[in-house]
Amino acid sequence: MTGRILDGKLVAAEVKKQVAEQAEQLGRHGTRPFLATVQVGDDPASTSYLKAKHRAAEEIGIESEHHHLSASTAQDKLEAILGQLNTNPKVHGILVQLPLPQGFDEDSIIERIIPYKDVDGLHPINAGRLAAGKEILVPCTPKGIVKLLTHYGVPVAGRHAVIINRTTLVGRPLANLFLNRDATVTVCHSKTANLAETTRTADILVSAVGREEFQISPEHIKPGATVADVGLTRVGGKLRGDVDFDKVSRLAGFITPVPGGVGPMTVACLLENTVQAALIQTRGG
Ligand code: GUN
Repeated sequence: MTGRILDGKLVAAEVKKQVAEQAEQLGRHGTRPFLATVQVGDDPASTSYLKAKHRAAEEIGIESEHHHLSASTAQDKLEAILGQLNTNPKVHGILVQLPLPQGFDEDSIIERIIPYKDVDGLHPINAGRLAAGKEILVPCTPKGIVKLLTHYGVPVAGRHAVIINRTTLVGRPLANLFLNRDATVTVCHSKTANLAETTRTADILVSAVGREEFQISPEHIKPGATVADVGLTRVGGKLRGDVDFDKVSRLAGFITPVPGGVGPMTVACLLENTVQAALIQTRGG
């Protein structure tokens, strides 16, 4: 058996096409969706993710601006910038690229963003809504994974979804999205005992670890399972995911490649969230 590829590039292109149409429609009514991003410091991975986000926004008719601050910026300066973006009627979506450099209180920064401009879906109001089953502005990577599974007709209801990650950016919102779709969900993390024993019971396995020493191998996989790889690590100048693709793809039913799997879906969902935020702000939802 060879796993079918969950082609994130292809599905992201379809999502972007729909989002471009929505953006055009908004434009005809005088609203140009506008995304503001903020980067603090010079983490090269963050720089490259942000470039991809701005390139994609431009491609589909979403206006964007970038605020690049030095790592020595004070917390209150960053908060002041967010205050200005919150009140600027031209700006519909605000994204603060994470992680922030050491010394910043990340939670308090995220809470500064007005919830209806929070296109990352990280504000406790949006995270709480999602946990309560209301999906309004949902974090982009989890949203992208669910879209990818839906596109390929991977069943979720009644299935066992195992997620290796418990962050507010990926694991927790994804667990809620799966719960909202009637999956049975297990969230694993660095303290989980007998990881392979748990992952071998997964119908859907999502791994988002991103460490050089961590790898998902065939012993972690139930034959026929769907495997989504969110990990991204640079090893010897080459990018690789969490999953040993060559070996695991022989066992899996469906599998995402790295690159070209989850990454493009994250970007497409950010654009979708930006248009959604613009809609909320122009029509009150
Ligand atoms: N860092 C890695 N992924 C993301 C993301 O989706 N949003 C933000 N803000 N930071 C990230």
